Amino acid sequence: MGHSNLSSLVSLCSTICSALIVVSVLGIASTTYAIGGKEADRLALLEFKKGITHDPFMVFSSWNNSIDFCEWRGVTCGHRHRRVTKLHLAAKELVGSISPFIGNLSFLRILKLQNNSLIHEIPPEIGRLRRLRSLALHNNTISGRIPTNISGCMHMENLSLANNNLVGEIPVELSSLSKLKIFSVGSNRLKGIIPPFLGNLSSLEVLSAPLNNLSGSIPHSLSNLMNLKYIALGANLLSGTIPSQVFNLSSVTNFDVGVNQIHGSLPLDLGITFPNLENFALSMNKFTGSIPPSISNASNLRFITIAGNYFTGNVPSWEKLQKLQWLSTTDNPLGRGEADDLSFLFSLTNATFLELLAINNNSLGGVLPKYISNFSSTLKVFLIDANNIEGIIPSGISNLFNLERLYLRDNQLSGTIPHDLGKLQQLQEMLLSGNNLSGNIPDSFGNLSQLIRLDLKSNNLQGSIPSSLGNCQSLLSLDLYNNSLSGAIPPQVIGLSSLSVYLDLSQNHFTGSLPIEVGNLKNLGALYVSENMLSGEIPSSLGSCIKLEYLAMDENFFLGTIPSSLGSLRGLQQLVSFSK
Ligand SMILES: *[C@@H]1O[C@H](CO)[C@@H](O)[C@H](O)[C@H]1NC(C)=O
Ligand SMILES: *[C@@H]1O[C@H](CO)[C@@H](O)[C@H](O)[C@H]1NC(C)=O
Ligand SMILES: *[C@@H]1O[C@H](CO)[C@@H](O)[C@H](O)[C@H]1NC(C)=O
Ligand SMILES: *[C@@H]1O[C@H](CO)[C@@H](O)[C@H](O)[C@H]1NC(C)=O
Ligand SMILES: *[C@@H]1O[C@H](CO)[C@@H](O)[C@H](O)[C@H]1NC(C)=O
Ligand SMILES: *[C@@H]1O[C@H](CO)[C@@H](O)[C@H](O)[C@H]1NC(C)=O
Ligand SMILES: *[C@@H]1O[C@H](CO)[C@@H](O)[C@H](O)[C@H]1NC(C)=O
Ligand SMILES: *[C@@H]1O[C@H](CO)[C@@H](O)[C@H](O)[C@H]1NC(C)=O
Ligand SMILES: *[C@@H]1O[C@H](CO)[C@@H](O)[C@H](O)[C@H]1NC(C)=O
Ligand SMILES: *[C@@H]1O[C@H](CO)[C@@H](O)[C@H](O)[C@H]1NC(C)=O
Ligand SMILES: *[C@@H]1O[C@H](CO)[C@@H](O)[C@H](O)[C@H]1NC(C)=O
Ligand SMILES: *[C@@H]1O[C@H](CO)[C@@H](O)[C@H](O)[C@H]1NC(C)=O
Repeated sequence: MGHSNLSSLVSLCSTICSALIVVSVLGIASTTYAIGGKEADRLALLEFKKGITHDPFMVFSSWNNSIDFCEWRGVTCGHRHRRVTKLHLAAKELVGSISPFIGNLSFLRILKLQNNSLIHEIPPEIGRLRRLRSLALHNNTISGRIPTNISGCMHMENLSLANNNLVGEIPVELSSLSKLKIFSVGSNRLKGIIPPFLGNLSSLEVLSAPLNNLSGSIPHSLSNLMNLKYIALGANLLSGTIPSQVFNLSSVTNFDVGVNQIHGSLPLDLGITFPNLENFALSMNKFTGSIPPSISNASNLRFITIAGNYFTGNVPSWEKLQKLQWLSTTDNPLGRGEADDLSFLFSLTNATFLELLAINNNSLGGVLPKYISNFSSTLKVFLIDANNIEGIIPSGISNLFNLERLYLRDNQLSGTIPHDLGKLQQLQEMLLSGNNLSGNIPDSFGNLSQLIRLDLKSNNLQGSIPSSLGNCQSLLSLDLYNNSLSGAIPPQVIGLSSLSVYLDLSQNHFTGSLPIEVGNLKNLGALYVSENMLSGEIPSSLGSCIKLEYLAMDENFFLGTIPSSLGSLRGLQQLVSFSK
């Protein structure tokens, strides 16, 4: 063996092998060295096993001396040298810590321990694993800092530490990991800046660090990363503007910086410089300016979420976005309150995968177009509340048979509620309050077996409550406050035992007595029947509503006294007067 071999052995073997190296240099046998290395591997694995205190699937039962460690569960060795190249024990519900002996597995290339309950720190000895390419420790409860010694893992490609309790900053020593492709540290407690050296890691494809406390602005240097596909920096404390060169990274498919303090406007050619964009998430920042119409050129877009910013102007047309699944512009002063504000909706009739359309709390005017019934039946969530939208609710909405949430409240919609809304078998929430709707509550609503929340308050609805509503056995809250409803309160409705949040019938023209079935509302928290023309004795069954915290019955014609049973309503906080 010559000198160059000797030096490479030294670097492979570090101090523990030095005695053996002397032996091999003396020419006794190169296998002696191999056995020594193997022995270090075996010892390291046994020490690793010792660090694990809980092994419910008995992964380690095979880790005994009667079998070669290369056959132990989760262990893979190289064919030739029989040294450990891979340790894969993901999702085995392991509890314990990672032994520093791991640093002796000097041929290790892949270490996958994700989805366990490992605790304590990442041992700095990990930095001795010069061949390590992939370190997956995500989804554990590892604490401490990212060890600076990790810089020794010169061949690292995948570093996945997300979903742990790591603290401190992203160490500058990571700048030596020049082959890094995946850097994933989301859901930890990291602070400090997004270090500019990341822009030097030219192989980087994934930069994922959401849900930390990273601050400062997004560094310019990121625009050097021509291979960057996935940027996820949401839910941090980032501020400043996004460097315009970053928008030139044409490989980017995922751009998520939601829930930060970032300001500035979007470049006009965004959809051309980001042609591969699939997820564009800016929600809850301080962005201003208009939505660039060029976004529509990024025809792979599936998710656009820009809620909670200060975007103004028109919502552009999205005709090329046939893969769009989510569009959320919630809480932005978008629109001009003008007739053509909703014209962009037409372009969405081509989006055959549309699931969520949330354009609520904008400043959109115009008439609700009939063609919304031509949206894809994949639509589950349709929120347009808190705008200035006029017109009627088109009956064809029942085509959207997968709809789960329909929010139209706080607009200027008029006309009657279409009977066929009762066909929306998946509907869980229907909020139509704060409009000028008239006519009856459709009988067909009794078919809405999944309905959890029905809010029709502050309209001009007439007629009586259909008793069929008593069939809505999933209903938790029913709000009919401030309408012109009349007739007797159906026992089926006031006795609907699923109601547990609230039932508000106040400010209508209901007559007759309060049905004794009110006693079925054993889980109800709030009952309001004030300002009607209810009469008769207050039923003593009311005393069965043991969860009531709020009760208002004032301004009616109830007779007699408060039933003594009401004394049992221990949680009651607010009890308003009982008669006119
Ligand atoms: C070693 O593990 C093998 C495989 O699980 C098992 O069959 C054997 O009984 C074990 N031997 C000892 C001594 O525990
Ligand atoms: C580990 O968890 C991630 C999500 O955190 C999941 O995508 C992955 O499938 C899980 N892996 C295993 C092996 O359970
Ligand atoms: C392996 O690593 C441990 C801890 O880092 C060290 O104490 C030990 O001497 C090393 N060598 C062997 C052969 O286990
Ligand atoms: C974390 O791992 C556990 C155990 O494998 C798994 O049940 C859980 O879903 C994972 N959590 C996440 C967020 O991936
Ligand atoms: C960490 O790296 C430093 C500097 O390279 C070195 O002195 C130290 O021994 C390393 N620690 C371990 C545990 O390998
Ligand atoms: C790194 O991760 C990617 C994507 O998960 C995978 O395709 C690749 O094989 C991994 N590389 C290594 C060395 O584990
Ligand atoms: C961020 O910092 C605040 C204040 O120090 C702390 O309350 C919060 O838990 C931190 N969040 C994370 C994800 O580290
Ligand atoms: C990036 O690499 C260049 C050239 O190697 C070096 O001059 C510069 O300091 C590095 N930048 C950072 C922020 O590490
Ligand atoms: C983006 O790239 C184009 C074409 O390569 C170039 O003309 C333009 O100046 C770049 N913009 C920025 C802000 O770097
Ligand atoms: C972007 O889309 C618009 C409208 O569809 C079209 O007029 C324009 O030519 C497109 N630009 C590019 C660069 O594809
Ligand atoms: C729908 O797509 C077709 C074919 O790509 C196109 O011709 C049509 O203009 C699109 N319609 C809308 C409303 O965008
Ligand atoms: C509506 O959006 C504005 C910003 O445009 C926001 O300030 C306000 O809180 C939102 N209103 C509601 C009820 O969420």
